[in-house]
Amino acid sequence: MSSTHTGRRAVITGGATGIGKATALRLAREGAAVIVNYVGEPGDAAEVVQEVESGGGTAVAVEADISVEEDVGELFRRARASLGGPPDLLVNNAGVESPKPLIEMELTDWEKVIGVNLTGAFLCSRDFARALVERGEPGTIVNVSSVHEQIPWPTYSHYCASKAGVKLFTGTIARELAEHGIRVVSVAPGAILTPINNELAEDPEKRAEIIAQIPWGRLGQPEEIAAAVSWLASEEASYVTGTTLFVDGGMTQYPGVKP
Ligand code: BGC
Repeated sequence: MSSTHTGRRAVITGGATGIGKATALRLAREGAAVIVNYVGEPGDAAEVVQEVESGGGTAVAVEADISVEEDVGELFRRARASLGGPPDLLVNNAGVESPKPLIEMELTDWEKVIGVNLTGAFLCSRDFARALVERGEPGTIVNVSSVHEQIPWPTYSHYCASKAGVKLFTGTIARELAEHGIRVVSVAPGAILTPINNELAEDPEKRAEIIAQIPWGRLGQPEEIAAAVSWLASEEASYVTGTTLFVDGGMTQYPGVKP
């Protein structure tokens, strides 16, 4: 068993499914004690906890809507209490998306996506960093962004705005927190086989359409993102801060522009 993250206390938002689940399982396998944050039904989070525990690791499921300030306060209080100290690794992974043309978009549609994807990352990063700065301890924040921090995506203006927001949020707080020994990085997945992309997985036509936009010729696996998160969070990446690592099979390299 690898010990890259032994002794670390990690919070993974949206840790019950998809990329969050793969990340929670990987970090736990590598020695971290993990908080599996989820919202709604507890079943998936409980399964992740069970899988971690059956491998000899430590995991605790904590429900919190990360777009709500009080929920986030409670999430970090419970994380500190159950892990025996403040978390030193935060993976801002929770995210939502749903297409809506601009001219049909309600304010509530907009606010939901910005609330989880951007405000949630802010609230969690703030509470995470406060506790570490107070104690003079180092840590790492990994934001799970998207290729859509860079690629405009019709009918997803709220989603793209949230991810573009995460990009400069990452760089800006990386500058603020450097003097406290806290690194802040983003990983930007392309099209990954997760529940968010169920439709893609099931519809051969849609799948072919998206694969045509990926030079590597296939969708990604959640574990391929978890690997990047693990490395970015590790000592090996000790000189990496403020930047985004794209893990997208080349999707950001303009595959639609032909010779
Ligand atoms: C979205 C996916 C999408 C991918 C590529 C991701 O950020 O969550 O739904 O397939 O970007 O467009």
